[in-house]
Amino acid sequence: MLVQRECMDSITFKSDTVLSDVHMYTPNIRHLMVRLNAVGQPEHTMDTTLEDVGKQVWRGAFLLADYIWNNSYLFRDCTVLELGAGTGMTSIVMATVAKTIYCTDVGEDLLNMCERNIIVNKHIYEAAGSEIKVRELDWLRDDLCTDTKNPYCWSEEEIAHMYDHTDVLLAADVFYDDDLTDAFFQTIYRILSNLKNPSTIYLSVEKRLNFTLRKMDVTCDAYDHFRLCLADLENICDGRTKFIVEPIKSSFPQFLSYERVEQLELWKIIAEPFKSNAQQ
Ligand SMILES: C[S@@+](CC[C@H](N)C(=O)[O-])C[C@H]1O[C@@H](n2cnc3c(N)ncnc32)[C@H](O)[C@@H]1O
Repeated sequence: MLVQRECMDSITFKSDTVLSDVHMYTPNIRHLMVRLNAVGQPEHTMDTTLEDVGKQVWRGAFLLADYIWNNSYLFRDCTVLELGAGTGMTSIVMATVAKTIYCTDVGEDLLNMCERNIIVNKHIYEAAGSEIKVRELDWLRDDLCTDTKNPYCWSEEEIAHMYDHTDVLLAADVFYDDDLTDAFFQTIYRILSNLKNPSTIYLSVEKRLNFTLRKMDVTCDAYDHFRLCLADLENICDGRTKFIVEPIKSSFPQFLSYERVEQLELWKIIAEPFKSNAQQ
């Protein structure tokens, strides 16, 4: 533990960079600061600006990956849409069981890195005969990008396939900014309203507690906002979709190496067609 702390102490983080807690207990931390691929491009970095947080792997991605491995029967042959996929790690694990995975995030640079990770890790999932498609899905836009100048654009066939077949949605550690959280929930509501089949959404979140002078208490505003959005979703009465929100106990076995702190949570949202009294 002392050695690890010494490692951390020898690194200077700028005030505008963020560090995934996954790396906190990593030996030889300096060597992992930037891992370069064969052509000298980073595939995963140790600290990034907030804008580039997707280039690190976050603990929530490992928790979700562990859940998938422990409950593979839930995902067999499914069509899955991952939002805010970052490095693509959770989509790669999902591809060991599901059939088609739309692995999405925003920004060409990040999506290039994600695509490279999916290619170099193909051996992990290729026996399953599944397919991962890296596509741009920006929560701040109302539509899916179909501009063919963007290498990660959607074809009309893919959009139709995604809406006709998706039955699982995933997002790991994407709740750290209230405006983005609002945009995320608006996006999943819009997507769910267009899906042909009932679906289940799995979300991991980490409650990062901080003492604030403003509140004179230890709180996590971003987590509180996430819980409000969950409650709002459950209270939607649009006459079409019923949302059932449930926490998932994190007591399932851990295969991957990370600290499963109690602030790390997994949530499930079941979206099913609303049945009126006459239909029941
Ligand atoms: C903390 S990272 C989590 C990455 C990955 N899921 C993980 O857990 O390792 C948050 C992710 O949300 C993505 N994101 C942020 N704003 C977004 C937006 N407007 N549309 C889509 N993705 C966005 C980031 O690019 C980043 O990949």
